[in-house]
Amino acid sequence: MKKILSTVLAAVFMLSLVACSPAKTTETTTKDAPATTTEKAAGGLIGVAMPTQSLQRWNQDGENMKKELETKGYTVDLQYANNDVNTQIQGIENMITKKCKVLVVAAIDGSTLTDVLKKAGENGIKVIAYDRLIMKTANVDYYATFDNFKVGVIQGQYIETKLALKDGKGPFNIELFGGSPDDNNATYFFKGAMSILQPYIDNGKLVIGSKQKDFTTIAIQGWDSAKAQARMDNLITSTYAKGTKLDVVLSPNDSLAIGIVASLKNAGYGSGDKKYPVLTGQDCDKPNVLAMIKDQQSMSIFKDTRTLATKVVEMVDSILQGKTADVNDTKTYDNGSKVVPSFLCDPIYADKANYKSILVDSGYYKEADLK
Ligand code: BGC
Repeated sequence: MKKILSTVLAAVFMLSLVACSPAKTTETTTKDAPATTTEKAAGGLIGVAMPTQSLQRWNQDGENMKKELETKGYTVDLQYANNDVNTQIQGIENMITKKCKVLVVAAIDGSTLTDVLKKAGENGIKVIAYDRLIMKTANVDYYATFDNFKVGVIQGQYIETKLALKDGKGPFNIELFGGSPDDNNATYFFKGAMSILQPYIDNGKLVIGSKQKDFTTIAIQGWDSAKAQARMDNLITSTYAKGTKLDVVLSPNDSLAIGIVASLKNAGYGSGDKKYPVLTGQDCDKPNVLAMIKDQQSMSIFKDTRTLATKVVEMVDSILQGKTADVNDTKTYDNGSKVVPSFLCDPIYADKANYKSILVDSGYYKEADLK
């Protein structure tokens, strides 16, 4: 029975993935309430503000949240903001005007929502920070995310294992990339990875060919693939054009990894005996799983967006029942105004060897999606 149920759930989830394919959606502020929900739904209105539809993961996050909340009887106002801060603020203002009961926000720039969330607070609306911490405001009640430091640790450990650094192998040439500086997660990813890699940089087993290692120098604004590609182009020209071998690239996520692969491909990696370097990522976006299958990218962190959505819906329920929501971290996430009670889900990695069991058997993707 359990098996049948999970197969049905997996099928429903895959249908929702197809339904939210980025190619079919417009990247403007969108809101929709399907025929299955009514304004009078028992639970009331929940506002869900997502950053952009341009990356696969946020489409999945939005769809999962909407589906799970509607199943519980809530009405959902789901808004995307084309990675534009003002659009996101306007969207949230709308949700406040419509008297939503709880706001779930994945911020574009974590530090820009202070004023609008003050308004939410004045209207008695509770706020959950989704995936990314909202900074500089006391008007955020909970934070639900994957353990961001651990994401970096797993990426660092993957590199450590692949290069057999623990066995004293090396030296290897490495280049480092960081995520968007306006996203609080980005420094956690970097610090987590460096907690593993720094000792090998210190003992000379990992050599940063370009010497670029400060977060501000290696960070890619807006998690932009084209900017990552341009920086990789520059690194190849400055450091790796004359036969110096590039062994490993730390990329915090998949949108950067896609740009890095494009640059490496243009420089001849993947042809003849020029193998791609070990390259990390995060999100298990479909193009990146394909890149793993083709040996262009080595691994990606899998953060099951279904798990996060379930957790956030539980938080919404608790808040509206006047209960304290379940959290597992009350120390780490200080937003400059308060330490936000957090629930951290557990990330894992997928690579060419295990992606079938992790991504396909779990119903996250169909084998056919990965062709
Ligand atoms: C998320 C990552 C994502 C990145 C770019 C981060 O805040 O945690 O999963 O790859 O934003 O959208």
